[in-house]
Amino acid sequence: MKKRIIPVLCLLLLNSITFAQQANEVSIIPKPASVEKGIGAFIISKHTNILAKGADAEKVASMFNYFLNKKYGFVLKINNTVTTNVIVLNTTLRIKLPYEAYQLKVTNHSINISGERSGVFYGVQSLLQLIHENGRQLSVPVVTIDDAPNFAYRGLMLDVGRHFFDIDEIKKILDVMASLKLNRFHWHLTDDQGWRLEIKKYPKLTSISAWRDSSIIGGYGDFKPFIYDGQRSGGFYTQDQAREVVKYAAERNIVVIPEIEMPGHSTAVLAAYPELGNGTGPYKVAGYGGVFYTIYNPGEPTFKFLEDVLTEVMAIFPSKYIHIGGDEVPKDEWKNSPFAQLVIKDNHLKNEEELQSWFISRIEKFLNKNGRNLIGWDEILEGGLSPNATVMSWRGEQGGIDAAKQGHDVIMSPGGYMYIDHAQAKDHTTEPLAIGGFLPLDVVYNYSPRPAALTPDQQKHILGVQANMWTEYIATDNKLEYMLFPRVAALAEVGWTKSENKDYKNFSENRLPIFLKNLERSGVNYRIPEADVVINNDAQTGRKTIAITPFIADSKIYYTVDGHKADNTANLYTSPILIPYTNGRPLTLKYIIVTAGNRVSNEFIVDIK
Ligand code: ACM
Repeated sequence: MKKRIIPVLCLLLLNSITFAQQANEVSIIPKPASVEKGIGAFIISKHTNILAKGADAEKVASMFNYFLNKKYGFVLKINNTVTTNVIVLNTTLRIKLPYEAYQLKVTNHSINISGERSGVFYGVQSLLQLIHENGRQLSVPVVTIDDAPNFAYRGLMLDVGRHFFDIDEIKKILDVMASLKLNRFHWHLTDDQGWRLEIKKYPKLTSISAWRDSSIIGGYGDFKPFIYDGQRSGGFYTQDQAREVVKYAAERNIVVIPEIEMPGHSTAVLAAYPELGNGTGPYKVAGYGGVFYTIYNPGEPTFKFLEDVLTEVMAIFPSKYIHIGGDEVPKDEWKNSPFAQLVIKDNHLKNEEELQSWFISRIEKFLNKNGRNLIGWDEILEGGLSPNATVMSWRGEQGGIDAAKQGHDVIMSPGGYMYIDHAQAKDHTTEPLAIGGFLPLDVVYNYSPRPAALTPDQQKHILGVQANMWTEYIATDNKLEYMLFPRVAALAEVGWTKSENKDYKNFSENRLPIFLKNLERSGVNYRIPEADVVINNDAQTGRKTIAITPFIADSKIYYTVDGHKADNTANLYTSPILIPYTNGRPLTLKYIIVTAGNRVSNEFIVDIK
C-alpha cells in the first residue's frame, strides 16, 4: 500500500508546487511601475462579489464583467453590502491618484482596486491578466501593484481608407487595445482609395467616394503595368455606427481621433465632387496606393465643403483632437493653376508651401473656434506651422523635434519604429505581402519616444507615441490582426512603461507567450514569432546539434534539413537534431510551429553554418 501512496503523494505535492509557482506569477503587459509580490492567492469563485464604490465604479464593474464573461464565460454579482470574498472597485480615494494611475492590492481575502475611473479600469485590466486558471478554479496571486503611465497618449492608427474594416473588427481591436492600456484610436477615415464616413450634407461621399471599381493585385512594384482584380469594393460607416464605436471605445478609456485628409489624399472625394479639384479631372476612386497629384483647390467652396464635413465629424467625435492629415501633398497642381497662384498673390504668400500652411491654418482656426485642436502629419511644418497645431512625426523624429522646439505638442510615430505595416521578417518571401521595410518586434519594443536632442522642458511636448497600420496590402481581418500582433503589445510597453523598467528579454520570453495564448483564446490572430535556434556541440558524439525552442511552450515544431518544405508531414521535433554529414555543403533548416490551439506559423528558414 505504502509504495503506491508515495508516488501519488509526490505527484500531488509536485502538482501543488507547480500550481503555487504558477499562481504566484505576475505577467502583465505593459509592465507596471511597481509590483510587490506576497504569498498565497485570492480565489475567484461564482460567489465572489464586486463592490462598486463611488462615481462610475459600477460602470467599470460592468466592463470587468464584460471581459470576465468573454474570457471565462461568467459574470460576478455587483453587491455593495458585502465585505468578504469581494473585489472592491473604489473611485472615492480622498487623495486622488493621477489620471489612469491605480493601486491594485490582492490579499487572500479580497482585491482592492483604487484610482479614478480610468485608473480603476486599468487596475481591472491588470487584474484580468493576473488571473490564473487551474482546472475550474481562478486564482489571483497576492500582490500589491502601484502603476501609472509613462505617456498620456498611447495610440494606434488604423487606415480604413485603403481597405474597409467593419465595426465588429474595430471593436475586436479596441478590446485588445484596452487590455494593453492603449488609449487613443486614430481612425484614418479618408484616402484616395475610399471615403468611409457618412456625411449627411454630401451623400455622394458614400454613394461614389466609398467605392472603387477595381484594385491592383500584388504589390505596387509586382506588375507593370498594374494588373487589376476587376472587383468593386469599399464600404462606409453610418454616423450611428461611428457613434457606436466612439461609445464602445470610451467605455474602454479610448478616445477615437478621426482623420479627414486634406489637401492631398483626396482623390476619392474629387471623384464625387470634381469642382473641388484643380481642373485636372475626370477623377476616379484610386485602385492602387501611392502619392497622388490630385489635391483640393484652395477656393471658398472647398473650405465650405471641409467645414461642413468637419461640423458633422465634430458632432460624432467628442475628441479634443481632430486629425486633418496634411501629409504627402505634391504641389504641382497648385503650381500650374492660375487660380491657386491668385490665392497665393492675394494672401501675400511666398510659394505653394506657404499656401498649404495657409490652408491648414484656416482649418485650424475653424476647429479652434469650435473648441477643438488640430493634429497633422509632420508636413504641416513646411511653410510654417499653424499656431496651436500638434504634430504627428512620421518621417523620422525630426519633424517632432522641430515642432517641440517651437513649443508645439508632438506625437511620435516614426516610420522606422512605429510603421507596423512593414514586414515582420527580413526575408519577405516568408511573409505575406507587405508594403516594404522590416520592422521586427524588438525594434518596436526598444523605441524611446523622448529624443535626446530635446531639453527636458522641450520633452514635455512629447505627448506620447503611436503605431500606424496602413492597409494598402491588408484586405482581411486575419491579416490585419497578423500585422498588429504581437507588435502592438510592444507598442503598449513603449507607451506605458518607464524606460528603466523595460526589458525586452523579460517581455518577449516571460510575458509575451502568455499574452499570445490569451489572444489565441479570444480568437485574435497574431504572427507566431520565430523559435530560438541554437547550434550546440554534442559532448558524447562530438557532433553538432540544432536545438529549437519555440516561443510558446506547448507548441509543436515540424522540420526538415534536406531543403524541402516543412509542413505537418515533416519531422516532429522532440530533441536536438544531429546535424547530418554534409561534406561541406550548405545546410538549411526549415521549420513550422503549430501551437496547442492548432495555429500554424509561417515556414521559417535558417541557414546552418
Ligand atoms: C504617412 O505615412 N503618409 C503619414
